[in-house]
Amino acid sequence: EKGTYPHFMLKEIDEQPFVIRNIITKYKDDNESIKLDENIRQAMAEADRIYIIAAGTSYHAGLVGKEFIEKISGIPTETHIASEFLYNMPLLSKKPLFIFISQSGETADSRGVLVNVKKLGLPSLTITNVPGSTLSRESDFTLHTFAGPEIAVASTKAYTAQMAVLAILAVDSAIARGVKMDFDPLQELAIVANAMDIFTNQKDTLEQIARDYLSLSRNCFFIGRSMDFHVCMEGSLKLKEISYIQAEGFAGGELKHGTIALIEEGTPVIGLATQENVHLNIRGNMKEVVARGANPCMISMEGFAEEDDKIVMPKVHKYLTPLVSVIPLQLIAYYAALHRGCDVDKPRNLAKSVTVE
Ligand code: M6R
Repeated sequence: EKGTYPHFMLKEIDEQPFVIRNIITKYKDDNESIKLDENIRQAMAEADRIYIIAAGTSYHAGLVGKEFIEKISGIPTETHIASEFLYNMPLLSKKPLFIFISQSGETADSRGVLVNVKKLGLPSLTITNVPGSTLSRESDFTLHTFAGPEIAVASTKAYTAQMAVLAILAVDSAIARGVKMDFDPLQELAIVANAMDIFTNQKDTLEQIARDYLSLSRNCFFIGRSMDFHVCMEGSLKLKEISYIQAEGFAGGELKHGTIALIEEGTPVIGLATQENVHLNIRGNMKEVVARGANPCMISMEGFAEEDDKIVMPKVHKYLTPLVSVIPLQLIAYYAALHRGCDVDKPRNLAKSVTVE
């Protein structure tokens, strides 16, 4: 039920701090350590390469998941769009583990890959919000995202929940592999939940930004580097699917190789600069588009924010910034769609779960 909310999407955006706190509880044992199925631990320990398979928003969570697993656990990882992988499988490693990410657990493209993986006798783990779903039943192992039912077509809380579970999984397998860890995901996720609260309480500011930047625009660009780039892809998907504004997420450094030709007087460009090692580079890319007339909206993080930044998010661990930086993008998309009179929860041409290939 929507309760007092005008739309499920807004309710689900607001639920994210609660969902993260719920995940912390579900994945914590009595000693405050990570609680995880031993079989999953073993499957991760045996894998020489991980293949993450997903679609849409879940694919975007998978891009962040790759960073977690490679950087934290040191296992080579690739993330693939399910529908591409299905008919164009790359050469596999000797001991692969497949991780399927799916809110619904019913996405036909992902299921198609799982069927092939099973034919090859290879191990599979599904990260899903619906444990009894097809992908969950048919794969060897399941990790639950505990986000509660997601009704709005535009996925919000499932995305942040998927990334939280992926961070926990990455740290758990790092510990199992004897990697020295100074990153406690359960503690850091609690800080993330508090940071999310700050944004869900700043709706007026974000509504104003949506009005100022997107009421009349035909298009919008999101630019970022490394983790921020992945979040830009998600922010642009959110905006395009519910407001019908043509939106694209780009790697900041790639702009000058073509896309910058699209920048005109007044084109909105939302920049993400939450990664300290590349924030100056993305600021440089923003200057390049501003010089061509773009209307800039920079989102950065405490610690290295600058005076003109429109949104400054509270400091969280550098790996977990996507869980927080996506919230203003979800809210901006929501208010842009609202002000343009779109059907927020049921955008045209879309179904909540895509059960045909
Ligand atoms: O249920 P799934 O996570 O497998 O769904 C994948 C996509 O269909 C889904 O994320 C879609 O892109 C959403 N509409 C995005 O908001």
